[in-house]
Amino acid sequence: MAEALDGLKRTNMCGDLRESHISNIVTVMGWVQRKRNLGGLVFIDLRDRTGLLQLVFGEEINKEAFAKADLVKPEYCIAVTGELIKRQSPNENMPTGLVEVKGENIKILSESETPPIYIKEGLDASENIRLKYRYLDLRRPDMQKIFMIRHKASKIVRNFLDDNGFIDIETPMLTKSTPEGARDYLVPSRNYPGMFYALPQSPQLFKQLLMVSGYDKYYQIARCFRDEDLRANRQPEFTQIDIEMSFVEEDDVIAINEALIKKLFKEVVNEDVKLPIKRITYKEAMDKYGSDKPDLRFGMEINDITNEVSHSEFVVFKPAIDNGGSVRAIKVDNAADMGRKKLDKLGEFVKTYRAKGLAWIACKEDGIKSPISKFFNEDEIQAILNKVGAKTGDLVLIVADKDSVVLQSLGALRLQVAKELEILSGSKDFNFVWVTQFPLLDYSEEENRYVAAHHPFTMPMDEDLKYLESDPGRVRAKAYDIVLNGEELGGGSIRIHNSELQETMFKVLGFTREKAWERFGFLLEAFKYGPPPHGGLAFGLDRIVMFLASTENIKDVIAFPKNQNAYCPMSEAPNMVDDKQLRELGIIKAEKK
Ligand code: AMO
Ligand code: AMP
Repeated sequence: MAEALDGLKRTNMCGDLRESHISNIVTVMGWVQRKRNLGGLVFIDLRDRTGLLQLVFGEEINKEAFAKADLVKPEYCIAVTGELIKRQSPNENMPTGLVEVKGENIKILSESETPPIYIKEGLDASENIRLKYRYLDLRRPDMQKIFMIRHKASKIVRNFLDDNGFIDIETPMLTKSTPEGARDYLVPSRNYPGMFYALPQSPQLFKQLLMVSGYDKYYQIARCFRDEDLRANRQPEFTQIDIEMSFVEEDDVIAINEALIKKLFKEVVNEDVKLPIKRITYKEAMDKYGSDKPDLRFGMEINDITNEVSHSEFVVFKPAIDNGGSVRAIKVDNAADMGRKKLDKLGEFVKTYRAKGLAWIACKEDGIKSPISKFFNEDEIQAILNKVGAKTGDLVLIVADKDSVVLQSLGALRLQVAKELEILSGSKDFNFVWVTQFPLLDYSEEENRYVAAHHPFTMPMDEDLKYLESDPGRVRAKAYDIVLNGEELGGGSIRIHNSELQETMFKVLGFTREKAWERFGFLLEAFKYGPPPHGGLAFGLDRIVMFLASTENIKDVIAFPKNQNAYCPMSEAPNMVDDKQLRELGIIKAEKK
């Protein structure tokens, strides 16, 4: 049975009806959540994206409608007309719980098989089933809430940027490799057999060209594509709020973007973000938190105890120090009683970050317990405890190695310990921080050369320009990331608009002039014609929505995401294509006639 609407119009959404609508004749349309037959009466809970509404059918009300209502099953799509009346047995837990519709007419618009996913708040299906039947998963009220939040967020962003003079301009999807440095998704060209377009990793080069064109303030809610290993906060296709501005410096870009964040979080989750958002330098972030995206909701900062232990001959610390490394520690409050097993597990944990081991000092009531105490005298131990601020009851965790290993492993350990001790459980904090002064270049052991840390158009800091050729590793960039609770939400930079400096930059990166022109020639050419000083930033919209909707899985905020293997279980993409298509694209040879 599938009846047509035949001119029937909906009057109200289910979730909107209240006592003030009583005695209106209403027509509602939606899906059957459940049906109960209590002998003389049939009750249906009807669902649309605004919520649930009770409908009541009875012989007394309308015999024909009553009989038809009894035929429906969950997820049938129906339309019902009748008077809105006061509900006999009110349900205070339902927003519409004081009213019900007296079912005088019912149309079964379409029937439904028993769905493989139970449509309700909360989850009871595996990820694979959810993705295979994504349209049913998306019918669940908690998913619909997320997409309404996402819609609201995009709308606020657009309004805010429009109010501030930004204009929305689209940039191509079929383009040339962009400089973000992940692997490209390629699209074969039919007109040029053997050649490929790249899907954009971001609109980076185009937004810079728009600055050359005088658009002054640009934004785009832009789809980006990166063929990377996927994680809880990474999808191959994701969305950026992409922004670029002319005639600005770093502080201007930061100011407008934090105002945007403030508005967004206020209007969506009623959170007051205090401006200006705190800023720390990359160096401070690494030294204190062992991460360029530090979670500042808790302390447990890293302390350098190299000086305090430098006199010791301890075979573990001494070689690390002699080789130019360091010994550093975190202090965990009130954790001196942590058991041996747990400590051993933390030791194994830091090994996954290439540390060779984990030393510890437990400040117990009855004195110090530590596997390394025999290598130090009492004063030396006390000096370590003083340096990290440990008191009775605390636990000190120590790693010695080269700096990069020490910082990375203690940074990860800090988060792991916070997780295990549930330091953040129930935290509703939104702790924002700008991380600034990133290194301009990273040294790639693999490629034996410096590579751009952000991208090759990032402006070096004025005071470090003089080292660009002599000591590239120490040059800091006018680059900034915005971090929330330990997640990178966005990042950007001031760009180089001076072609001489750009040439030097390519030289430092080991690009020949030809190579640079081959890849980015159109931008370099454009920069011959009066490029303005400019800079910008891109937020990961999906990541922002994850926070606004309190979910830790990026797939929850993307309507049709890919699974962990970049596969779509619903559409079954990617898939094989016909030989004919491959021949047209020149990917396989044409058949001989
Ligand atoms: P960047 O590469 O830092 O900068 O990207 C900006 C933001 O995009 C989000 N993001 C992702 N989100 C989900 N899945 C992914 N695979 C993914 N990759 C990145 C992050 C990140 O902070 N063109 C520059 C910006 C600029 O300089 O203006 C750029 O793309 O939240
Ligand atoms: P060992 O003498 O090898 O048993 O090590 C003594 C203690 O030092 C043990 O608790 C080890 O886990 C710890 N340890 C080993 N290597 C390191 C290191 N690189 N940094 C910090 N502690 C370490």
